[in-house]
Amino acid sequence: MNEKIEALLEEINQYQAASDEALEEYRMRFISRKSVVGDLFGEMKDVAPEQRKAMGVKLNELKNTAQEKFKQLIAQLEQYKATKGTQAVPDLTLPPIPDTLGAMHPLTQVRNRIVSIFERMGFNVAEGPEIEDDWHNFTALNFPLNHPAREMQDTFFIEKDPDIVLRTHTSSVQVRLMETQKPPIRAIMPGRVYRNEAISARAHCVFHQVEGLYIDRNVSFADLKQTLLHFARELYGKETKIRLRPSFFPFTEPSAELDIYWGTETEADRRVTKGTGWLEIGGCGMVDPFVLESCGIDSQEFTGFAFGMGIERMAMIKYQIKDLRLFTENDIRFLKQFTPFN
Ligand code: DAH
Repeated sequence: MNEKIEALLEEINQYQAASDEALEEYRMRFISRKSVVGDLFGEMKDVAPEQRKAMGVKLNELKNTAQEKFKQLIAQLEQYKATKGTQAVPDLTLPPIPDTLGAMHPLTQVRNRIVSIFERMGFNVAEGPEIEDDWHNFTALNFPLNHPAREMQDTFFIEKDPDIVLRTHTSSVQVRLMETQKPPIRAIMPGRVYRNEAISARAHCVFHQVEGLYIDRNVSFADLKQTLLHFARELYGKETKIRLRPSFFPFTEPSAELDIYWGTETEADRRVTKGTGWLEIGGCGMVDPFVLESCGIDSQEFTGFAFGMGIERMAMIKYQIKDLRLFTENDIRFLKQFTPFN
């Protein structure tokens, strides 16, 4: 009897009634004349006389508890009905709240695009250290000793004599590849580079380049031009026009600058292209025989082309971004625009 009372108390305490039916069920089970509580009163006659008094007290307590709970359940149900629809009763038919997905940084997206375009043309991907010695960053690339790029205002020096620098371009990785591999070499080398420059909308002291190198027998300038044209059309669309402008780099001969046609339709177009309609994205040329020889490659047998392009610049063109500082400020409103499912 005692256990039965305990079990019923437990059941009463747990009971919830969110509808009239549930409330009625409660009433039938615990309150009505035929309730389990009533049944227990019937069983009192079987209890040993010396326990009867104590058991009677317990049973009355159970009865009172059941009635108290009934009142509570009525009140709760009333309240539930009154606020139903206005309170936070979950609506299971609503579509789920989507998980907020992170975005890949626009520079990473453009870098990945560049890598996949060149991979399809048979280029490998290589990387080199960001902290470089003078040989790989300058000397092997035919920079004369007094070249202005070696001066303090352009280069971050880590140590002097012998010089250790933060690489100023990814061309240093070309040297490392040529020193360690035999032609044919066909690779691109994306990475971060550093220059001691004032930060503005067009320049930063840390930015990214992708270097390209192709060394084999009979590689010509025509191969270079066709490779760059194909690349530009894959990245920016079939109608994209490119232009190679004669230029100078110590490590290429002849050298050229690569421009992409942007247009002059709006005022903004004219501003970013300085009125010409063309945007410069990098440099290129035929690898200077001096550089091949410095790296242990026979310049009588092999020729090659190289190029180096700015990834920020390419991303600015692709997404029409007017200020390069946006890439590093980590403003969530900027970065969010590049979520894959936006
Ligand atoms: N290293 C040059 C720069 O940082 C870019 C460049 C020009 C790379 C010509 C090359 C090249 O590989 O052939 O401005």
